[in-house]
Amino acid sequence: MNSNPHMLEQNFRPDTEQALDLQALRADFPALHQEVRGHPLVYLDNGATSQKPRSVIDAIRHYYERDNSNVHRGVHTLSERATLAYEGVRKKVRNFFNAASIREIVFVRGTTEAINLVAQSYGRPRFSTGDEILITEMEHHSNIVPWQLLCQQTGATLKVVPFNEAGELDLDAYHELLGPRTRLVAVVHVSNSLGTVNPVAELIAAAHQLDVPVLVDGAQAVAHRKVDVQALDCDFYTCSGHKLFAPTGIGVLYAKEALLADMEPYQGGGDMISRVSFEETRYNDLPYKFEAGTPNIAGVIGLGAALDYLEPLDMTAIGAHEDELLHYATTQLQALPGIRLIGTAAAKASILSFCIEGVHPHDISTILDGEGIAIRAGHHCTMPVMTHYGLSATARASFALYNNRDDVDALVAGIDKVKEIFQS
Ligand code: ALA
Repeated sequence: MNSNPHMLEQNFRPDTEQALDLQALRADFPALHQEVRGHPLVYLDNGATSQKPRSVIDAIRHYYERDNSNVHRGVHTLSERATLAYEGVRKKVRNFFNAASIREIVFVRGTTEAINLVAQSYGRPRFSTGDEILITEMEHHSNIVPWQLLCQQTGATLKVVPFNEAGELDLDAYHELLGPRTRLVAVVHVSNSLGTVNPVAELIAAAHQLDVPVLVDGAQAVAHRKVDVQALDCDFYTCSGHKLFAPTGIGVLYAKEALLADMEPYQGGGDMISRVSFEETRYNDLPYKFEAGTPNIAGVIGLGAALDYLEPLDMTAIGAHEDELLHYATTQLQALPGIRLIGTAAAKASILSFCIEGVHPHDISTILDGEGIAIRAGHHCTMPVMTHYGLSATARASFALYNNRDDVDALVAGIDKVKEIFQS
Protein backbone atom coordinates (compact mmCIF):
# COMPACT_ATOMS: atom_id res chain seq x y z
CA MET A 1 0.00 0.00 0.00
CA ASN A 2 1.25 3.46 -0.78
CA SER A 3 1.37 5.52 2.37
CA ASN A 4 1.35 8.89 0.63
CA PRO A 5 -2.01 10.59 1.28
CA HIS A 6 -1.07 13.47 -1.04
CA MET A 7 -1.01 11.17 -4.07
CA LEU A 8 -4.77 11.76 -4.25
CA GLU A 9 -4.25 15.44 -5.02
CA GLN A 10 -2.35 14.61 -8.15
CA ASN A 11 -2.98 17.82 -10.04
CA PHE A 12 -2.42 20.07 -7.06
CA ARG A 13 0.47 22.49 -7.55
CA PRO A 14 1.28 24.92 -4.74
CA ASP A 15 1.57 28.65 -5.52
CA THR A 16 5.30 28.52 -4.81
CA GLU A 17 5.72 26.00 -7.66
CA GLN A 18 3.53 27.98 -10.03
CA ALA A 19 5.41 31.21 -9.24
CA LEU A 20 8.55 29.70 -10.78
CA ASP A 21 6.85 28.12 -13.82
CA LEU A 22 8.52 24.90 -12.81
CA GLN A 23 7.60 22.90 -15.86
CA ALA A 24 9.37 25.32 -18.20
CA LEU A 25 12.28 25.56 -15.82
CA ARG A 26 12.77 21.78 -15.63
CA ALA A 27 12.99 21.70 -19.42
CA ASP A 28 16.18 23.80 -19.16
CA PHE A 29 18.08 20.97 -17.43
CA PRO A 30 18.87 18.19 -19.94
CA ALA A 31 20.15 15.66 -17.38
CA LEU A 32 16.78 15.60 -15.60
CA HIS A 33 15.13 14.08 -18.66
CA GLN A 34 16.53 10.57 -18.74
CA GLU A 35 15.63 7.14 -17.52
CA VAL A 36 17.68 5.41 -14.83
CA ARG A 37 17.16 1.68 -14.39
CA GLY A 38 13.95 1.87 -16.38
CA HIS A 39 12.45 4.76 -14.41
CA PRO A 40 12.36 8.50 -15.04
CA LEU A 41 15.23 10.04 -13.08
CA VAL A 42 14.29 11.66 -9.78
CA TYR A 43 17.34 13.71 -8.84
CA LEU A 44 17.47 14.44 -5.12
CA ASP A 45 21.23 14.70 -4.59
CA ASN A 46 21.55 18.44 -5.10
CA GLY A 47 23.47 18.86 -1.85
CA ALA A 48 26.30 16.91 -3.48
CA THR A 49 26.02 18.72 -6.80
CA SER A 50 23.30 20.37 -8.84
CA GLN A 51 22.38 19.66 -12.46
CA LYS A 52 23.36 22.25 -15.08
CA PRO A 53 21.02 24.23 -17.31
CA ARG A 54 21.54 24.02 -21.07
CA SER A 55 22.78 27.64 -21.10
CA VAL A 56 25.72 26.74 -18.83
CA ILE A 57 26.68 23.77 -20.97
CA ASP A 58 26.38 25.94 -24.12
CA ALA A 59 28.48 28.74 -22.63
CA ILE A 60 31.34 26.35 -21.86
CA ARG A 61 31.13 24.80 -25.32
CA HIS A 62 31.05 28.25 -26.92
CA TYR A 63 34.17 29.27 -25.02
CA TYR A 64 36.10 26.17 -26.10
CA GLU A 65 34.83 26.30 -29.70
CA ARG A 66 35.42 30.01 -30.25
CA ASP A 67 37.27 31.92 -27.56
CA ASN A 68 39.62 29.34 -26.02
CA SER A 69 42.67 31.28 -24.95
CA ASN A 70 44.50 32.31 -21.80
CA VAL A 71 43.39 35.37 -19.82
CA HIS A 72 45.35 38.52 -18.85
CA ARG A 73 48.29 37.35 -20.96
CA GLY A 74 47.64 37.94 -24.64
CA VAL A 75 46.93 40.97 -26.78
CA HIS A 76 45.41 38.85 -29.53
CA THR A 77 41.70 38.75 -30.16
CA LEU A 78 40.92 35.40 -28.59
CA SER A 79 42.76 36.29 -25.40
CA GLU A 80 40.95 39.61 -25.24
CA ARG A 81 37.60 37.87 -25.66
CA ALA A 82 38.45 35.32 -22.99
CA THR A 83 39.67 38.03 -20.61
CA LEU A 84 36.55 40.14 -21.14
CA ALA A 85 34.31 37.14 -20.52
CA TYR A 86 36.32 36.08 -17.43
CA GLU A 87 36.36 39.53 -15.86
CA GLY A 88 32.71 40.06 -16.79
CA VAL A 89 31.84 37.15 -14.55
CA ARG A 90 33.64 38.78 -11.64
CA LYS A 91 31.18 41.68 -11.97
CA LYS A 92 28.25 39.24 -12.05
CA VAL A 93 29.52 37.55 -8.88
CA ARG A 94 29.91 40.95 -7.22
CA ASN A 95 26.28 41.73 -8.08
CA PHE A 96 25.05 38.30 -7.00
CA PHE A 97 26.55 38.73 -3.52
CA ASN A 98 26.16 42.52 -3.41
CA ALA A 99 29.87 42.85 -2.63
CA ALA A 100 31.21 46.40 -2.50
CA SER A 101 33.85 45.85 -5.18
CA ILE A 102 35.16 43.33 -7.72
CA ARG A 103 38.45 43.46 -5.79
CA GLU A 104 36.66 41.44 -3.10
CA ILE A 105 35.89 38.51 -5.43
CA VAL A 106 38.58 35.82 -5.69
CA PHE A 107 38.06 32.83 -8.00
CA VAL A 108 39.10 29.57 -6.38
CA ARG A 109 38.46 25.86 -7.02
CA GLY A 110 35.59 25.68 -4.56
CA THR A 111 34.61 26.20 -0.94
CA THR A 112 37.40 23.94 0.29
CA GLU A 113 40.11 25.97 -1.42
CA ALA A 114 38.53 29.24 -0.25
CA ILE A 115 38.66 28.15 3.39
CA ASN A 116 42.23 26.86 3.04
CA LEU A 117 43.20 30.19 1.49
CA VAL A 118 41.81 32.12 4.46
CA ALA A 119 43.43 29.71 6.94
CA GLN A 120 46.85 30.03 5.33
CA SER A 121 46.82 33.64 4.13
CA TYR A 122 44.90 35.24 6.98
CA GLY A 123 45.42 32.89 9.91
CA ARG A 124 48.93 31.53 9.56
CA PRO A 125 50.90 34.78 9.88
CA ARG A 126 48.59 36.14 12.60
CA PHE A 127 47.71 33.32 14.99
CA SER A 128 49.89 31.83 17.71
CA THR A 129 49.72 29.85 20.94
CA GLY A 130 46.79 30.91 23.10
CA ASP A 131 44.70 32.11 20.16
CA GLU A 132 41.38 30.40 19.52
CA ILE A 133 39.45 29.61 16.35
CA LEU A 134 35.76 29.09 16.97
CA ILE A 135 33.84 26.67 14.75
CA THR A 136 30.70 24.58 15.32
CA GLU A 137 29.92 20.92 15.78
CA MET A 138 27.96 20.84 12.51
CA GLU A 139 30.78 21.94 10.19
CA HIS A 140 31.68 20.07 7.02
CA HIS A 141 35.18 18.56 7.18
CA SER A 142 36.30 21.38 4.86
CA ASN A 143 35.55 23.86 7.65
CA ILE A 144 37.28 21.75 10.30
CA VAL A 145 40.46 20.26 8.85
CA PRO A 146 41.99 23.51 7.44
CA TRP A 147 41.69 24.99 10.95
CA GLN A 148 43.19 21.88 12.54
CA LEU A 149 46.15 22.19 10.15
CA LEU A 150 46.43 25.86 11.06
CA CYS A 151 46.35 25.01 14.78
CA GLN A 152 49.21 22.53 14.26
CA GLN A 153 51.17 25.18 12.38
CA THR A 154 50.60 28.07 14.79
CA GLY A 155 49.81 26.60 18.22
CA ALA A 156 46.27 28.04 18.14
CA THR A 157 43.38 26.05 19.62
CA LEU A 158 40.11 24.96 18.02
CA LYS A 159 36.92 25.59 20.04
CA VAL A 160 33.63 24.01 19.05
CA VAL A 161 30.07 25.30 19.59
CA PRO A 162 27.73 22.33 20.18
CA PHE A 163 24.22 21.86 18.80
CA ASN A 164 21.08 20.40 20.36
CA GLU A 165 19.09 17.29 19.36
CA ALA A 166 17.12 19.23 16.75
CA GLY A 167 20.38 20.32 15.15
CA GLU A 168 20.24 23.95 16.31
CA LEU A 169 23.35 25.72 17.52
CA ASP A 170 23.61 26.30 21.26
CA LEU A 171 23.72 30.08 21.13
CA ASP A 172 24.46 30.42 24.86
CA ALA A 173 27.53 28.24 24.35
CA TYR A 174 28.51 30.40 21.36
CA HIS A 175 28.41 33.56 23.45
CA GLU A 176 30.35 31.86 26.24
CA LEU A 177 33.03 30.49 23.92
CA LEU A 178 33.42 33.77 22.05
CA GLY A 179 35.98 35.67 24.10
CA PRO A 180 39.16 37.73 24.21
CA ARG A 181 41.22 34.82 22.85
CA THR A 182 38.97 34.23 19.82
CA ARG A 183 40.76 35.30 16.64
CA LEU A 184 38.28 34.00 14.06
CA VAL A 185 34.81 32.46 13.86
CA ALA A 186 34.13 30.01 11.00
CA VAL A 187 30.54 28.83 10.68
CA VAL A 188 28.39 27.08 8.14
CA HIS A 189 25.40 29.05 6.78
CA VAL A 190 23.28 25.96 5.95
CA SER A 191 24.36 22.56 7.29
CA ASN A 192 24.81 19.99 4.51
CA SER A 193 23.81 17.05 6.71
CA LEU A 194 21.13 18.63 8.94
CA GLY A 195 19.72 21.40 6.77
CA THR A 196 19.89 23.85 9.67
CA VAL A 197 19.98 27.51 8.63
CA ASN A 198 22.22 29.17 11.18
CA PRO A 199 21.51 32.72 12.41
CA VAL A 200 24.72 33.96 10.84
CA ALA A 201 23.86 37.68 11.02
CA GLU A 202 23.44 37.36 14.80
CA LEU A 203 26.67 35.35 15.14
CA ILE A 204 28.58 37.91 13.07
CA ALA A 205 27.22 40.87 15.06
CA ALA A 206 28.30 39.26 18.34
CA ALA A 207 31.78 38.46 16.99
CA HIS A 208 32.22 41.98 15.67
CA GLN A 209 31.54 43.41 19.11
CA LEU A 210 34.87 41.81 20.03
CA ASP A 211 36.49 42.74 16.69
CA VAL A 212 36.59 39.07 15.68
CA PRO A 213 36.26 38.41 11.93
CA VAL A 214 33.80 35.78 10.71
CA LEU A 215 34.04 33.34 7.81
CA VAL A 216 30.74 31.91 6.56
CA ASP A 217 30.76 28.62 4.63
CA GLY A 218 27.96 29.24 2.14
CA ALA A 219 28.34 26.05 0.08
CA GLN A 220 24.82 24.82 0.86
CA ALA A 221 23.20 28.24 1.10
CA VAL A 222 23.84 30.11 -2.13
CA ALA A 223 21.49 28.04 -4.34
CA HIS A 224 18.66 28.33 -1.82
CA ARG A 225 18.78 31.77 -0.22
CA LYS A 226 19.56 35.34 -1.27
CA VAL A 227 22.99 36.14 0.17
CA ASP A 228 23.95 39.78 0.65
CA VAL A 229 27.46 39.96 2.09
CA GLN A 230 27.17 43.65 2.96
CA ALA A 231 23.89 43.14 4.82
CA LEU A 232 25.38 40.15 6.67
CA ASP A 233 28.59 42.12 7.25
CA CYS A 234 30.56 38.85 7.06
CA ASP A 235 34.31 39.16 6.60
CA PHE A 236 34.72 36.08 4.42
CA TYR A 237 32.04 34.16 2.48
CA THR A 238 32.82 31.00 0.52
CA CYS A 239 30.93 28.94 -2.04
CA SER A 240 31.30 26.34 -4.80
CA GLY A 241 29.94 26.85 -8.29
CA HIS A 242 28.85 23.27 -8.85
CA LYS A 243 26.11 23.47 -6.21
CA LEU A 244 24.90 26.64 -7.92
CA PHE A 245 24.23 25.09 -11.37
CA ALA A 246 27.77 25.91 -12.56
CA PRO A 247 30.61 23.46 -13.34
CA THR A 248 32.83 21.69 -10.83
CA GLY A 249 36.26 23.13 -10.07
CA ILE A 250 35.19 26.74 -9.70
CA GLY A 251 34.20 28.61 -6.56
CA VAL A 252 34.32 32.02 -4.95
CA LEU A 253 35.98 33.55 -1.95
CA TYR A 254 34.39 36.86 -1.01
CA ALA A 255 36.47 38.85 1.46
CA LYS A 256 36.34 42.44 2.65
CA GLU A 257 38.85 44.46 0.69
CA ALA A 258 40.71 45.76 3.73
CA LEU A 259 41.34 42.20 4.92
CA LEU A 260 42.48 40.95 1.52
CA ALA A 261 44.75 43.95 1.08
CA ASP A 262 46.49 43.07 4.32
CA MET A 263 46.87 39.35 3.54
CA GLU A 264 49.85 37.63 1.92
CA PRO A 265 49.17 35.16 -0.90
CA TYR A 266 49.70 31.51 0.03
CA GLN A 267 50.25 30.32 -3.54
CA GLY A 268 52.83 31.90 -5.81
CA GLY A 269 53.01 31.75 -9.58
CA GLY A 270 52.07 33.52 -12.78
CA ASP A 271 49.58 36.40 -12.90
CA MET A 272 49.67 37.07 -9.14
CA ILE A 273 52.73 39.32 -9.43
CA SER A 274 53.40 42.81 -10.73
CA ARG A 275 57.20 42.42 -10.81
CA VAL A 276 59.59 39.55 -10.16
CA SER A 277 63.34 39.58 -9.71
CA PHE A 278 65.53 37.19 -7.76
CA GLU A 279 65.89 39.84 -5.08
CA GLU A 280 62.25 40.80 -4.68
CA THR A 281 58.75 40.03 -5.92
CA ARG A 282 55.89 42.51 -5.84
CA TYR A 283 52.38 41.19 -5.90
CA ASN A 284 49.62 42.08 -8.29
CA ASP A 285 46.58 44.17 -7.29
CA LEU A 286 43.50 42.67 -5.69
CA PRO A 287 42.12 40.18 -6.33
CA TYR A 288 44.77 38.83 -8.72
CA LYS A 289 47.41 38.32 -6.07
CA PHE A 290 45.32 35.36 -4.86
CA GLU A 291 44.83 33.82 -8.32
CA ALA A 292 48.19 32.23 -9.11
CA GLY A 293 48.53 30.29 -12.35
CA THR A 294 46.17 29.89 -15.29
CA PRO A 295 42.71 29.88 -13.74
CA ASN A 296 39.69 27.71 -14.55
CA ILE A 297 38.55 30.01 -17.34
CA ALA A 298 35.83 27.71 -18.68
CA GLY A 299 34.60 27.17 -15.13
CA VAL A 300 34.34 30.92 -14.54
CA ILE A 301 32.46 31.35 -17.81
CA GLY A 302 30.11 28.52 -16.80
CA LEU A 303 29.60 30.20 -13.43
CA GLY A 304 28.69 33.43 -15.21
CA ALA A 305 26.10 31.58 -17.31
CA ALA A 306 24.66 30.01 -14.14
CA LEU A 307 24.30 33.46 -12.53
CA ASP A 308 22.67 34.76 -15.75
CA TYR A 309 20.27 31.85 -15.54
CA LEU A 310 19.37 32.68 -11.93
CA GLU A 311 19.11 36.43 -12.49
CA PRO A 312 15.48 36.59 -13.70
CA LEU A 313 14.45 34.00 -11.11
CA ASP A 314 13.81 35.49 -7.72
CA MET A 315 16.01 33.80 -5.07
CA THR A 316 13.24 34.44 -2.52
CA ALA A 317 10.76 32.58 -4.75
CA ILE A 318 13.24 29.72 -5.15
CA GLY A 319 13.68 29.53 -1.37
CA ALA A 320 9.91 29.58 -0.80
CA HIS A 321 9.38 26.79 -3.35
CA GLU A 322 12.08 24.60 -1.79
CA ASP A 323 10.78 25.29 1.73
CA GLU A 324 7.31 24.18 0.64
CA LEU A 325 8.79 21.02 -0.86
CA LEU A 326 10.84 20.32 2.26
CA HIS A 327 7.74 20.77 4.40
CA TYR A 328 5.73 18.47 2.10
CA ALA A 329 8.43 15.78 2.29
CA THR A 330 9.05 16.18 6.03
CA THR A 331 5.34 15.82 6.88
CA GLN A 332 5.12 12.56 4.99
CA LEU A 333 8.34 11.03 6.27
CA GLN A 334 7.40 11.96 9.84
CA ALA A 335 4.18 10.00 9.43
CA LEU A 336 5.97 6.81 8.38
CA PRO A 337 6.70 4.33 11.19
CA GLY A 338 10.35 3.40 11.63
CA ILE A 339 11.70 6.63 10.08
CA ARG A 340 13.94 8.92 12.07
CA LEU A 341 14.61 12.40 10.76
CA ILE A 342 18.08 13.73 11.51
CA GLY A 343 17.96 17.51 11.77
CA THR A 344 14.64 19.00 12.79
CA ALA A 345 15.65 22.62 13.36
CA ALA A 346 12.94 25.28 13.12
CA ALA A 347 14.92 27.00 10.34
CA LYS A 348 15.93 24.54 7.63
CA ALA A 349 16.71 24.67 3.92
CA SER A 350 16.65 22.04 1.21
CA ILE A 351 18.08 19.05 3.15
CA LEU A 352 16.20 16.03 4.48
CA SER A 353 18.41 13.52 6.31
CA PHE A 354 16.81 10.37 7.64
CA CYS A 355 17.33 6.80 8.80
CA ILE A 356 15.06 3.78 8.48
CA GLU A 357 15.11 1.43 11.44
CA GLY A 358 17.07 -1.71 10.66
CA VAL A 359 18.23 -0.56 7.20
CA HIS A 360 21.70 0.74 6.40
CA PRO A 361 21.55 4.09 4.54
CA HIS A 362 23.64 2.61 1.70
CA ASP A 363 20.95 -0.05 1.23
CA ILE A 364 18.28 2.67 1.18
CA SER A 365 20.21 4.52 -1.51
CA THR A 366 20.82 1.36 -3.57
CA ILE A 367 17.15 0.35 -3.52
CA LEU A 368 16.05 3.89 -4.39
CA ASP A 369 18.54 3.93 -7.26
CA GLY A 370 16.77 0.85 -8.58
CA GLU A 371 13.67 3.08 -8.78
CA GLY A 372 15.57 5.83 -10.59
CA ILE A 373 15.87 7.98 -7.45
CA ALA A 374 19.25 9.58 -6.65
CA ILE A 375 19.94 10.49 -3.02
CA ARG A 376 23.18 10.50 -1.01
CA ALA A 377 24.01 8.08 1.80
CA GLY A 378 26.99 8.36 4.10
CA HIS A 379 28.47 10.69 6.68
CA HIS A 380 28.29 13.62 4.24
CA CYS A 381 31.79 14.74 5.28
CA THR A 382 30.37 15.64 8.69
CA MET A 383 31.60 12.81 10.90
CA PRO A 384 31.18 14.87 14.12
CA VAL A 385 27.46 15.27 13.26
CA MET A 386 27.16 11.49 12.90
CA THR A 387 28.99 11.02 16.22
CA HIS A 388 26.54 13.43 17.88
CA TYR A 389 23.62 11.17 16.92
CA GLY A 390 25.48 7.88 17.43
CA LEU A 391 25.23 7.05 13.72
CA SER A 392 27.72 6.09 11.05
CA ALA A 393 25.61 7.42 8.18
CA THR A 394 22.26 8.85 7.12
CA ALA A 395 20.27 8.84 3.91
CA ARG A 396 19.86 12.36 2.54
CA ALA A 397 17.47 13.80 0.00
CA SER A 398 18.35 17.35 -1.04
CA PHE A 399 16.25 19.67 -3.17
CA ALA A 400 17.00 22.28 -5.81
CA LEU A 401 14.83 24.78 -7.63
CA TYR A 402 13.76 22.26 -10.31
CA ASN A 403 12.41 19.60 -7.92
CA ASN A 404 8.66 19.22 -7.54
CA ARG A 405 6.04 17.33 -5.57
CA ASP A 406 6.22 14.40 -7.99
CA ASP A 407 9.85 13.92 -6.94
CA VAL A 408 8.80 13.82 -3.30
CA ASP A 409 5.96 11.39 -4.07
CA ALA A 410 8.47 9.12 -5.85
CA LEU A 411 10.79 9.32 -2.84
CA VAL A 412 8.01 8.36 -0.44
CA ALA A 413 6.92 5.47 -2.68
CA GLY A 414 10.58 4.37 -2.88
CA ILE A 415 10.90 4.43 0.90
CA ASP A 416 7.75 2.29 1.13
CA LYS A 417 9.47 -0.19 -1.14
CA VAL A 418 12.65 -0.19 1.00
CA LYS A 419 10.51 -0.93 4.06
CA GLU A 420 8.62 -3.69 2.30
CA ILE A 421 11.86 -5.37 1.21
CA PHE A 422 13.37 -5.26 4.68
CA GLN A 423 10.18 -6.25 6.47
CA SER A 424 9.43 -9.26 4.29
N1 ALA B 1 29.61 18.54 0.49
C1 ALA B 1 28.80 17.87 -0.52
C2 ALA B 1 27.64 17.15 0.10
O1 ALA B 1 27.16 17.56 1.11
C3 ALA B 1 29.59 17.05 -1.44
O2 ALA B 1 27.19 16.17 -0.45
